[in-house]
Amino acid sequence: MTDAKKIAVVTGANRGLGLEIGRQLARDHGFHVVLTGRDAAKVEAAAHALRADGLDVVGHVLDVTRDDSADACAAWVEKTYGAIDVLVNNAGILLERIYGDTENIETDAMDVGIDVVRQILETNLLAPLRVTQHLAPLVRRGGRVVNMASQMGQFALAGPNMVGYRISKTALNGLTANLAVGLKGRGIAVNCCCPGWVRTDMGSKHAMIEVEEGAQTPVWLAAEADAGLTGKFFHEKKDIPW
Ligand SMILES: NC(=O)c1ccc[n+]([C@@H]2O[C@H](COP(=O)([O-])OP(=O)(O)OC[C@H]3O[C@@H](n4cnc5c(N)ncnc54)[C@H](OP(=O)(O)O)[C@@H]3O)[C@@H](O)[C@H]2O)c1
Repeated sequence: MTDAKKIAVVTGANRGLGLEIGRQLARDHGFHVVLTGRDAAKVEAAAHALRADGLDVVGHVLDVTRDDSADACAAWVEKTYGAIDVLVNNAGILLERIYGDTENIETDAMDVGIDVVRQILETNLLAPLRVTQHLAPLVRRGGRVVNMASQMGQFALAGPNMVGYRISKTALNGLTANLAVGLKGRGIAVNCCCPGWVRTDMGSKHAMIEVEEGAQTPVWLAAEADAGLTGKFFHEKKDIPW
């Protein structure tokens, strides 16, 4: 890694969209990327695979639901790099049933357990706030925070099922708008995006697009979008309604 390189930290980056966002930032935009994940062995294996392709990445542990983990990761990032350019809050969970998957939990809004919804909100809403509180102070002026939201959270697409997931992403949109105002004075853009319906473990084999395509909008927001754009929600690199 050279001093001139931009640095990105991506959460939930041991598989799926997070891993692909890390790959594209390193391969196509010259970033040094810190892939983070809650399981040290998995995140190191992911980083090792990208390094084998010649990419400039490291793995580091970050369980986004834990204060001690966020504390330790932020301290390591500060000691190692001093400052970073991009934070991608990608880690997320979908505990509710999708397409007849029998392992997941009842999906109807009238039946889903409150504890299930609370667990989803912990990871999809409170964790991006926690991680941003810890890492945004290390983001340089002109840097960016990108939150992985979903059109499932759009008011216009409200539905009867997956209510925990839907409201976690609606609230993440709200968090994005508020953080954008809060960080504007520090010159940090905060936006969220929907990657589309992507073939990952979460998206399932029924999804419409591959992970390479799904990563394009978050990567664009992290690396290419006009730095003046902030407090907005994007899909396919276009501003969409909340
Ligand atoms: N796939 C889609 O169609 C789609 C559509 C819209 C939005 N999104 C959003 O895009 C993001 C990535 O989705 P994906 O499809 O790539 O999902 P995925 O394949 O299920 O991967 C989720 C990632 O999040 C990590 N994660 C979960 N809980 C964590 C925690 N407490 N701490 C750290 N990492 C944690 C997982 O790590 P482990 O391996 O340790 O579980 C994994 O790396 C999510 O926020 C999702 O809501 C996805």
